[in-house]
Amino acid sequence: MRVTRVAADHVRSLNGVSLDLDSGVTALVGQNGAGKTNLIEAIYFGLTGRSFRTAERRDLIPFGESYARCRVVVEDGEGIKHEFMSSTSRSEGSRFTMDGAAIERSQAAAYRPAVTVFSPDRLELVKGPPAVRRAHLDAYVAARWPSRGESRTKFGRVLAQRNALLARIQAGEANVHQLGVWDRQVAETGARLCAVRTEAVAELSGHFRTVSAELGLEGDCQLEYRPGACADIEEIVEGLAQRLDYDVRLGRTSWGPHHDELRLEFNGRQLRRFGSQGQQRTGLLSLLFAERTALLEARSEAPLMLLDDVMSELDSERRERLVTRLSQGGQSLITAAETDLIPKSGEISEVAFDSVPGVTVATGGTGEAADA
Ligand SMILES: Nc1ncnc2c1ncn2[C@@H]1O[C@H](COP(=O)(O)OP(=O)(O)OP(=O)(O)O)[C@@H](O)[C@H]1O
Ligand SMILES: [Mg+2]
Repeated sequence: MRVTRVAADHVRSLNGVSLDLDSGVTALVGQNGAGKTNLIEAIYFGLTGRSFRTAERRDLIPFGESYARCRVVVEDGEGIKHEFMSSTSRSEGSRFTMDGAAIERSQAAAYRPAVTVFSPDRLELVKGPPAVRRAHLDAYVAARWPSRGESRTKFGRVLAQRNALLARIQAGEANVHQLGVWDRQVAETGARLCAVRTEAVAELSGHFRTVSAELGLEGDCQLEYRPGACADIEEIVEGLAQRLDYDVRLGRTSWGPHHDELRLEFNGRQLRRFGSQGQQRTGLLSLLFAERTALLEARSEAPLMLLDDVMSELDSERRERLVTRLSQGGQSLITAAETDLIPKSGEISEVAFDSVPGVTVATGGTGEAADA
C-alpha cells in the first residue's frame, strides 16, 4: 500500500496544497518556516485522524479559520484506491472518513499503510516514561503479526476488570475470592502479551545494533525487553497472589506486563537517562529503522516513513547510509531545509517545496506572498 496523493486543504500554514507522492523515496526541500513539517503532520492527520505533534487537534486549524482538513489517497497492491479524509472544526469536532463514509480509525488501519514518524517531537519515545515505549512496541507487534495485534487490548481489558474489582474490594463492596477468575485471565492474556513482545524485541535487537552503528552510535547499543512478570501463566498467577494484600490496599494491580520496560541502552546505560540529545535522536532513528528492516525481511508491509528534518544532524556519510536503507524498499518522505543535505546517489525524487501546487512562499523582505 502506498500514498499517491495528499491534499492539505487547510492545515496550519497550508491552504489548498496538493502533492503527488512517488512510491519510493521523496525529499522535500524548502526554507525554514515554509511548512514542511506542517505537510508531514497533514499526511499523518489525513491517514490516522491524529497529530504526532499535539493531542490538541484544533492546533491544526489555520489561524483565523474555523476548520482543518486533509485528504490522502492510498493505493493498495491491486491498484484499488481509497480516499481518507480527516477534519476538525472549532464548532463541530472531528470527522474521519474513508471514501466519504465515516469509519473507526482502528478499522481504517487495514486499508492504509502504517505510518512511522521521525521528528524532534518523537524523542519522547526515547526520553519519556516506559508506557510510551510499551505502546510503541505493541503497535509494532500489531504491524508485524496482525493476528496477534489484539494482545495489548485483550490484556488491557481484563486488567481493567481486575482493577475495578480491587477497588470494590478496597471499598468493602466485594470479596477477595471473586478475584480468582480475573487473576487467571490477567495471567493468560499477560503471558501472551509478554511472549509476543519478547519475540518482537528478539527480532529487532540485532537490527537495532546494526543500524545504530551505521548511523553513528559508536559503542555497544542494545535494545532489551525487561519484563517484570514473565511469559509463564502459573508464575503470573502466583505472582499476583503474592501481591494480593498490597494490591487490595492500593486498589489496583501493582505488577504485570503493564509495568514492563523496553530499554534502549548505549554502552550499558539507558539512553533515556544518560544519552546526549544527538545520541537519543540516533537511538530513536535506529529503533524506527530496525522495525522497518524487520518488517521488510518478514515480507510484511513496510510502514510509510515520514522523516522530518533528519538529515541536518548527520554527516554526509551517514546521510548516504540512511538513504541507502530507505532505498531498500517501501515509501518514505524526508524533509530538509537545504538541497545539499540530500544525498544525490540514491534513487530519490527531490521536490522543491515552493514548487508544490498551492504552496505560498514569502518573497524575502517585502512581507508579500506569491503563489508558486
Ligand atoms: N495553526 C496554524 N495556523 C497557521 N500557521 C501556523 C499554524 N501553526 C503553525 N503555523 C505556522 O507554520 C509555520 C511553520 O511551518 P513548519 O513548521 O511546517 O515549517 P518548516 O518548513 O518545517 O520549517 P523548519 O525548516 O524550520 O522546520 C510557521 O510560520 C508557523 O507560524
Ligand atoms: Mg520543520
